[in-house]
Amino acid sequence: MTVPVGESSIRWEEESSIEFIELGEVITPSRQEQVDFVASLVPADGGDSFAIVDLACGAGALSEAVLRRFPASRALLLDGSSAMLERAVHQLSAYAGRTEFAHFDLRARDWLGRLPPDLRCFVSSLAIHHLDAVEKQALYTDLVTVLPSGGGLFIVDLVEPVNDRVWSAYGDLWDAVVQQQSLEYTGASASYERFREGWNHYRDPDLEFDQPSGLFEQLGWLASAGLSQVDCFWLRAGHAIYGGYK
Ligand SMILES: C[S@@+](CC[C@H](N)C(=O)[O-])C[C@H]1O[C@@H](n2cnc3c(N)ncnc32)[C@H](O)[C@@H]1O
Repeated sequence: MTVPVGESSIRWEEESSIEFIELGEVITPSRQEQVDFVASLVPADGGDSFAIVDLACGAGALSEAVLRRFPASRALLLDGSSAMLERAVHQLSAYAGRTEFAHFDLRARDWLGRLPPDLRCFVSSLAIHHLDAVEKQALYTDLVTVLPSGGGLFIVDLVEPVNDRVWSAYGDLWDAVVQQQSLEYTGASASYERFREGWNHYRDPDLEFDQPSGLFEQLGWLASAGLSQVDCFWLRAGHAIYGGYK
């Protein structure tokens, strides 16, 4: 079910949605490992019944990993892109009855009033870096405020390198990983060539649109927001998995 909830002020273009749907698996380092790993961090036992909320879900890969791991779980998938939501509905059709889909704006807060009553976790992949530092801090505070005790917040995202050397190192490694994944997953380098046309933030930063914050400072914001066990759990080529438990 897709529920439009009004105008969105997202600056993400539908053209990017279509391209990310096509390329996401190849251009994200260790994509399957990432989503399965996030699912393994969710504070739940195998048969627990609970809900997660996937912020800027895209085609739903992260929710899918959680739904697969926890057969009694449900997911509310939120995104600002119609193309992404349509793709997510299709992608998660095997989980019909355990999923809900809605338009939302990551910068708005109306959706905080429509969360599932048995919310256990917020998850988000490759989207929060579109917010600036102040917006991220406000988002973390608002998410942790409504998160029940014992719940979790887990983010997969690009992070700001600590210096120029690390910028280059992240950029080089991301290139190398995508070159290898392009060949391994598709048997050709065409996806890698498309990735080279502006998707590597550490080579071609678009700092108005992509505003990753430093990992260390984000861990501080999450702790200040009220998470008690906060850490970075995984990192490769500037893509980090971080968050914590309340
Ligand atoms: C790179 S995609 C990642 C999608 C998905 N989470 C994944 O990892 O495959 C970024 C997503 O963020 C969404 N997005 C970006 N800014 C947004 C905003 N302000 N409000 C809602 N969605 C937004 C886009 O529509 C897109 O689906």
